[in-house]
Amino acid sequence: MYNILKPFLFLLSPERAHYLTTKLLRIVLKLPFFKGLINLTFDYHHPNLEREVFGLKFKNPVGLAAGFDKNAELIDDFSNLGFGFIEIGTLTPKAQPGNDQPRLFRLKKDRALINRMGFNNQGIAQAVERLKLRKSDVIVGGNIGKNKTTPNKDATSDYMECFHALYNHVDYFVVNVSSPNTPGLRELQEKEPLKKLLRDLLEENSRTEKPKPVLLKIAPDLEESQLDDILEITSELKLDGLIISNTTIDRGGLQTKQNTIIKIGNGGLSGAPVFKKSNEVLKYVRKANPNVPIVAVGGIMSEKDALEKIRLGADLIQIYTGLIYKGPGLVKRINKALIRHLN
Ligand SMILES: Cc1cc2nc3c(=O)[nH]c(=O)nc-3n(C[C@H](O)[C@H](O)[C@H](O)COP(=O)(O)O)c2cc1C
Repeated sequence: MYNILKPFLFLLSPERAHYLTTKLLRIVLKLPFFKGLINLTFDYHHPNLEREVFGLKFKNPVGLAAGFDKNAELIDDFSNLGFGFIEIGTLTPKAQPGNDQPRLFRLKKDRALINRMGFNNQGIAQAVERLKLRKSDVIVGGNIGKNKTTPNKDATSDYMECFHALYNHVDYFVVNVSSPNTPGLRELQEKEPLKKLLRDLLEENSRTEKPKPVLLKIAPDLEESQLDDILEITSELKLDGLIISNTTIDRGGLQTKQNTIIKIGNGGLSGAPVFKKSNEVLKYVRKANPNVPIVAVGGIMSEKDALEKIRLGADLIQIYTGLIYKGPGLVKRINKALIRHLN
């Protein structure tokens, strides 16, 4: 079905196509017959897919990566598409428009996207109102960040505000310091600022009635020395897990013409070209720390890619760009492949 729709969607700008497909899905899912049909087509259950990771029980290990449902608008709808978990955000305390359009580009030859959305979101309060109304019991992660206008020295208070607001409404948290599209944000991945930010958040978390898992999402562009620092912090602070990885700023090895890439400009590259790079980080981290829970994301475009991430040591996986190129059927195909090959 997606194969019929895709050529039309790809005639539209990527951002418009995203808006239209999600809107269409939401309308269709309001009709009981279609809801049943979609559920039957995409949802897939098997006891061997169930996972317990960082204390949470997932019905399957395939999640929707952050950035697709920034404002917590799609949880109930996307729970019908077979995802084991959905990560909302990145959310910031105040609403912000993000960067000017166009800010999302397709690199068809590379099965990739470049985005410089810049944390466009409606702000934490709006998201909380929506979360209060959600019906589905699918696991929801809250991916949190800082507003563009907040200087890095005050970043902790932005993350803290998001943490408090979302605490009663999400199952786990993701600290995002790895987006390339908020100026200076990635500097928070450096050892001292990162340690301070995470320590403050984890202390606050430990003061709650029932602390929630707190994960860190990292870039695939980190040097080994930076990864070592992150590994040290992960162990020292007993972080609940790592999400590996965000988009890359690297443009090496692309099929798309160089002048097109230059014309597109800055942004994070996702999809097939980030697969190897994020796998390198995954391998490095898993070798150094056999126990830390890892959510692997980056370039999963097929069942084979998903299996490779799991074989490299991922506990859970997420997809974004694969959904744009392959459609929602990818989730079920991955889950079926996991049953065939891993059990
Ligand atoms: C348009 C777009 C927006 C994104 N926004 C976010 C975001 O707000 N927060 C975040 O942590 N990651 C964001 N990401 C990164 C994805 O969650 C994911 O880490 C990355 O795209 C690699 O996975 P993929 O190759 O399956 O797309 C975004 C990705 C895309 C393509």
